[in-house]
This record gives sequence, structure tokens and C-alpha cells, in this order.
Amino acid sequence: MSELNSALEHPTYNYKVVRQFAIMTVVWGIVGMLVGVLIAAQLAWPALNFDLPWLHFGRLRPLHTNAVIFAFGGCALFCTSYYIVQRTCQARLISDKLAAVTFWGWQLVILGAAVSLPLGLTSGKEYAELEWPIDILIAVVWVLYAIVFFGTIMKRKTEHIYVANWFLGAFIIAVAVLHIINSLAIPVAMTKSYSIYAGTIDAMVQWWYGHNAVGFFLTAGFLGMMYYFVPKQAERPVYSYRLSIVHFWSLVAVYIWAGPHHLHYTALPDWAQSLGMVMSVILLAPSWGGMINGMMTLSGAWHKLRTDPILRFLVVSLSFYGMSTFEGPMMSIKTVNALSHYTDWTIGHVHSGALGWVAMISIGCIYHLIPILFGRERMYSTDLINVHFWMSTIGTVLYIASMWVNGIMQGLMWRAYNQDGTLTYSFVESVAASYPGYLVRVIGGGIFFAGMLVMAYNVYMTTRKDVAPQPAPAAASAA
Ligand code: HEM
Ligand code: HEM
Repeated sequence: MSELNSALEHPTYNYKVVRQFAIMTVVWGIVGMLVGVLIAAQLAWPALNFDLPWLHFGRLRPLHTNAVIFAFGGCALFCTSYYIVQRTCQARLISDKLAAVTFWGWQLVILGAAVSLPLGLTSGKEYAELEWPIDILIAVVWVLYAIVFFGTIMKRKTEHIYVANWFLGAFIIAVAVLHIINSLAIPVAMTKSYSIYAGTIDAMVQWWYGHNAVGFFLTAGFLGMMYYFVPKQAERPVYSYRLSIVHFWSLVAVYIWAGPHHLHYTALPDWAQSLGMVMSVILLAPSWGGMINGMMTLSGAWHKLRTDPILRFLVVSLSFYGMSTFEGPMMSIKTVNALSHYTDWTIGHVHSGALGWVAMISIGCIYHLIPILFGRERMYSTDLINVHFWMSTIGTVLYIASMWVNGIMQGLMWRAYNQDGTLTYSFVESVAASYPGYLVRVIGGGIFFAGMLVMAYNVYMTTRKDVAPQPAPAAASAA
């Protein structure tokens, strides 16, 4: 590996750390989605937990969410942010050593999660389950990440700071603040701590964190990717620079208030719930502004979609972003949430954002980057990227459509009552009725996961020195 790294050394930029994060994005994507497929299968066939505590749904579910969000998504964000900040600032990262520490530190965090979560060690806070020693390590790595990122911006050779860096910078600052405040806890042992917050305040801090983890980790960071890689891949300037600035400020100003929509009809004061609802509905505007800015960047280049599957990944991911940011504001309206909350509709919404937006844009960016990082002309096989594109799209559609059907059905069954006031359906009847949906989800998730294996093969073949790329399809070379 070190021989390979020195052969690929870039004269100006630090590509080594970008390469390492790129490969680990694919590796953790496969691991996290494999666990996703397993827990999806357990919901269809519960016996698949084999009566082993560490294979139980309750332990594997947080393993899945941590692996896909922080390992897969996190590595994709480190990878692309280190690349984008260097290219747009025309400067090498301020410190190769610090960058390497962030790489190895982040892998250590992931290993800590992979061991502690199946053992049942958890703080019980969703998306913040890891116990305090790992939380401290996350905070340290994150601060170093901020130093590398902002330090590089400070030594930039360009005059202005490209908008992608604004989004990435906001993501880095917001995640540091959210993580540190939400994780404040009193340790009672090496593996156990108690949150310093209690009751409703604990719930509000948790969902201020949880929603902004979505807003800044799963959205702002990936929008940073969008603003760099969509124009690059389309070979067109971003549609409107002015819109991108309006997009940035309105998004960061509004997101931070929307957390209470996770706590409708709870002990949280009603005014706070309504505030969260209103801010969530307003959030539709900046979200769609950004989506439209990305889409319109393709003006005059739409024909490229016919031949460029990487561009397809990027554009379809934007469509899913548009879909999930339309659905989210609708679900945050209290009367709609009364139906959707606790049902599979939420899971469908999550994965239209997670698979359709987060995973597909990351995959597109990694396909763009791998040939550059490994000094190749292009990916080994364009056909295989195309196959992967269709597997991801079909997998996502099967996943979210089955969860929408399940969710609305569950919501309606739970609220149906007879003339004498008794419930029409028992809970278990709604579980039985959900079974076909769970089956379709296993199939959809399985297809999406298999697509990741196709990607791994294509990446492996591209990085091998002795393998020439397959001839590009005729249409692609003509374009
Ligand atoms: C092969 C692909 C995937 C499959 C089969 C899958 C499957 C699942 C399943 C079965 C659950 C639990 C649902 C429940 O409790 O009822 C879940 C939850 C979740 N997954 Fe995935 N997943 C996949 C990919 C992803 C990706 C790529 C992400 C993020 C980038 C993601 C993020 C989440 C989140 C955030 C939750 C928790 C949702 C909530 O609490 O409302 N998943 N997933
Ligand atoms: C304008 C943008 C969005 C709004 C207003 C919004 C709103 C909502 C609402 C109302 C819920 C259901 C809360 C509940 O009933 O418990 C929810 C859940 C969720 N959303 Fe969104 N959403 C948006 C975009 C996104 C995107 C783009 C993603 C992913 C990339 C995402 C990921 C999630 C996750 C992970 C949950 C589940 C949280 C949990 O209960 O564990 N959302 N969102």
C-alpha cells in the first residue's frame, strides 16, 4: 500500500488521505447495508436472530444506523471535503499528519461502535448511542478535522471561498456543537454513563441533536458534495451562484429550529411543537431552492444523462432529495404526523433520504473520484456503473414504496374503531398485514446491497495496475 501511495503521490495535493477515505466508504457501505439487509430480514423472519443476544434486532439496529450514517456517510464526507477544500483553495491540506490522525481516529471510532453496540453497550440516545469514551474520541477527531479543514481554507490561494466549502464548514461546526452538547453525561463506569439532562429537556436536546444530525450531517455536508461534483461531472458552472448563497443562509437559519417535529403530541409544550412544525414547513423552500439549483446546473447538458451513469447517480440523488424534503415538511404537520408517527412511513421517509439522496450522491462522487485518485483515465467498466445505477434506483423504489404502503396501512388500522368505541384491529393484526411489505423491503434492500458489491468489484479492477479499462460504450465515447 505504501508503494502504491508513493507512486500516486500528487505534486500539490494530499490525495493519500482522500484515497483512504474513498476506499473505506465502499467498505463501510457494504458492511452497514449488509447489517441493514439482515435486520430487514429479521423483521420478516424473526428467527434470524438465532437467539444470540448480539444478533438481536435491538442491538443490530443501532449498529446499522451508526455504520451507514457515521462510517459510510462519514467516510464519504471526509473523503470529498478533503478533496474539495484542496481543489477549490488550490492549497494542500495544512497538515498531512493531522489528516492521517483523523483517518485512523475515525476508523477507531467505527471499530469501537462495531464492538460496543452488539455487546449492548448504549447510552440509549438515537444516533448518539455510543458510550462516553468513544464520544470523547469523536470530539477529539472532530476538532482535528475542523483544524485541517479551516486551516486549509485559511492558507488558500484563491480569493473567495467556493460555496461547497460553506456547506462543508457549516456541517463541521454544527456537528461539533451538536455532538458535544447532546453527549454531556456523567460516567458511572467505563461502559456506562447517564445524560445530564432529564425528562422533557432530555427529549428536546436529543431531537435538537437528532434532527440537526439529519440537517447538517446527512444534508449540509452532502449539499457541499453536490455543489462541487454536479458542476464537475456535468462540465457546466453551477446554475446560480446567488441562489446558492441564499440556499446556504436560509437552510442553516431554518434547520436548527425544526427538531420539535420529532416530539409531536408529547410532554413538550405545545408552542414548541407548533414552532417546530412551522419551521419545518418553511424548510421546504430552501431545500427545493438547492435542489433546483443542482438540477438546473444541467441546463444544456441534459443529453449527457443518456450516456453518463455517474451523472445519473448525481441527478437521481437530487430528485430523491427533493422528494424527501417535500415529504418531511408534510409529515411535520401535526395532523399528518398523527397518522405517520410510529409507523413504517417514517422508515420509508428516512430511506428515501438515506438511500436515494445520501447513498446515491456518495456513490456518484466516489465513481467520479476513484479514477482521479488512482491515476486512471476512467473507471474499469462504465457498463457496471450503469448496472449499479439501476440496482440502486430499483432497490430504493422497492424499499420506500413498500414502507409507504405499510405505514399508511398501519396508521389507518391503529386508529380504526367500531361503533361501540372498541378498536377494530388488534396490534398483532397490523403486524401480520405488514408482512408483505417487509418481504418487498428485504428484496429492495438486497438489490441495493448487491449493487454495492458490483461497485466494489469495479473499484477493485480500476485500482489494479495491470488491468486496462474496458472499452467505453460507443455512445459514451461519442459524447
Ligand atoms: C441495503 C440498504 C438498507 C437496508 C436494507 C436498510 C434497512 C433498515 C431497517 C430494516 C431499519 C429498521 C427499521 C425499523 O426499525 O422498522 C433501518 C433503519 C434505519 N436506516 Fe437503514 N437500511 C439500508 C440503508 C441505509 C442507509 C444507506 C442509511 C443512511 C445513509 C440508512 C439509515 C437508516 C436510519 C437513519 C434508520 C433509523 C430510522 C428511524 O429510526 O426512523 N439505512 N434500515
Ligand atoms: C425539509 C426537510 C425535512 C423535514 C422537514 C423532515 C421532517 C421529518 C419528520 C416530520 C419526521 C418524522 C418525525 C416523527 O414522526 O418521529 C422525520 C423523520 C426522519 N427524517 Fe426527515 N425531514 C426532512 C428531510 C430529511 C432528509 C433529507 C433525511 C435524510 C437524509 C431525513 C431523515 C430523517 C430521519 C433519519 C428521520 C427519523 C428520525 C427518527 O425517528 O429516528 N429527513 N423527518
